[in-house]
Amino acid sequence: MPSADAPSGQTAYQQKELNASFFDDGRELALLHYVYSQSDAVRGSPSKVLAAIDNFGQQQKYLMNVGTEKGRIVSQLIEQTKPKVMVELGAYVGYSAVLFADAARRAGGERYYSLERDATFAAVTTAFLELAGLGSFAKVVVGGSAESIKSLFDQGKLTTIDMLFLDHYKPAYTTDLKLCEELGLIHPGTVLAADNVISPGNPPYLAYVRSTTEQKKKALIDDKAAGDDRDGFVDRTKKSVSEETG
Ligand SMILES: C[S@@+](CC[C@H](N)C(=O)[O-])C[C@H]1O[C@@H](n2cnc3c(N)ncnc32)[C@H](O)[C@@H]1O
Repeated sequence: MPSADAPSGQTAYQQKELNASFFDDGRELALLHYVYSQSDAVRGSPSKVLAAIDNFGQQQKYLMNVGTEKGRIVSQLIEQTKPKVMVELGAYVGYSAVLFADAARRAGGERYYSLERDATFAAVTTAFLELAGLGSFAKVVVGGSAESIKSLFDQGKLTTIDMLFLDHYKPAYTTDLKLCEELGLIHPGTVLAADNVISPGNPPYLAYVRSTTEQKKKALIDDKAAGDDRDGFVDRTKKSVSEETG
């Protein structure tokens, strides 16, 4: 999980509790009440909603948000690449959703999807997006990421992804990316931004995104030989890679 870092001059979040849960212990609903107690002062302003979340993290309890530094890097990437459709995997309380949906909308984006497995976290995220004035631009989808990607695709709501922000469950980084490739959602120019791949690290994901098409084809064959073919996933993906490369 990421730590919410603080650049010099800013107050750091509370320390992550080492011997206790540092999330899902009621703090997310406490945060919701804390921010909504200031709703008149922050309504319609993404930066004020984010500042209120930061205040809670600094004064009350640690929150596993993307943090200021990494948030700034991804926001700059959004400004530069101007994704029309952006998908986030892992919302938690919606800090990155408010920050990146605001950046994407300002860069001319059309839609932001935030996929979150936990229903309470998804509800908090939805409430903060509404409060920030981003409710009609950014949609939260409750459920496991793979199921939600498939469901959005099947409903025709998701036909392409211009930027994918991965910040959920490490082993799913690679499988969800492969799923998006298989569904034809990833295209030349799609930007992938993944948190925590250096520290604590995600070697399988890095190896996959850094591999050549030839290496990917070989890995698919090896996976199949090892019996790791989920419902014909390997065959279908192999076909899509072949079509892509002629
Ligand atoms: C590190 S937090 C996300 C932080 C958020 N992106 C931010 O920076 O504000 C990871 C979140 O991913 C969610 N999650 C974990 N596995 C998931 C999955 N398979 N599908 C969807 N969400 C998942 C967790 O419930 C948790 O809320």
